[in-house]
Amino acid sequence: MNIIFLGPPGAGKGTQAERLSKDLNVPQISTGDIFRAALSQGTELGLEAKKYMDAGELVPDELVVRIVEERLRENDCKGGFILDGFPRSTFQAEALDRFLIEEGSGIDIVLNIDMDSEELVKRLTGRRVCRECGANYNIHYSLPETGGECDQCGGELYQRDDDNEKTIRNRLKVYGQQTEPLIDYYSGTGKMVTVDGSKKPGEVYDVIRGAVNSLGA
Ligand code: AP5
Ligand code: MG
Repeated sequence: MNIIFLGPPGAGKGTQAERLSKDLNVPQISTGDIFRAALSQGTELGLEAKKYMDAGELVPDELVVRIVEERLRENDCKGGFILDGFPRSTFQAEALDRFLIEEGSGIDIVLNIDMDSEELVKRLTGRRVCRECGANYNIHYSLPETGGECDQCGGELYQRDDDNEKTIRNRLKVYGQQTEPLIDYYSGTGKMVTVDGSKKPGEVYDVIRGAVNSLGA
């Protein structure tokens, strides 16, 4: 099954995509995670992406499309994939459509997570991420049981560079200008399901799982 997660920064795309990826046994492809991994390895791609990420702007379309197409050609995507944070512009959505047509495939479902902006700012300023395993916590909603370390691996928790209020507000603005138009783009396909992201993570997941189950997964 080929799945897209759409939604503003902080809506819970990563949280939900990770769980669905484990349940369906298909890879989660997060463009943000790809750029952050490249940066931590000090590659040219990572350094290039950082300029845009730190400002809350989108990384240029051609670069993102190339990275995603390379990733989708890998073998583990043959049985399906979950895109988390891609596409994020009409250019990217059209490029993805063309790529999938050439591959003789297509998108099965677009899960659009809907959320109010002020709640998103609170969630994102409160997010903490494990430096070792990437697990997500939140000082407002889901603190680690140990206090300051990751429950899963004991790793150090840090705050993403783009999770400060100024950058978050720009990310939300950029979302409104460049990504939100994709809601119209995909609602026209009849494959989009909108989910209320303000509920608890487990409740959001139940709705998502129900929508995916109804397609026979
Ligand atoms: P990316 O890494 O994709 O960040 P984002 O879209 O801004 O979204 P987030 O990862 O911040 O939020 P999320 O929706 O995944 O929510 P999460 O589950 O983490 O992109 C970063 C940057 O990379 C972009 O700004 C851009 O520069 C670049 N980039 C990436 N993709 C690109 C592309 N395609 N084109 C161009 N540039 C690109 O949850 C957030 C927090 O809330 C966590 O703390 C979590 O624990 C908590 N939480 C989640 N769900 C709930 C809930 N239901 N209730 C309470 N708390 C919750
Ligand atoms: Mg994410």
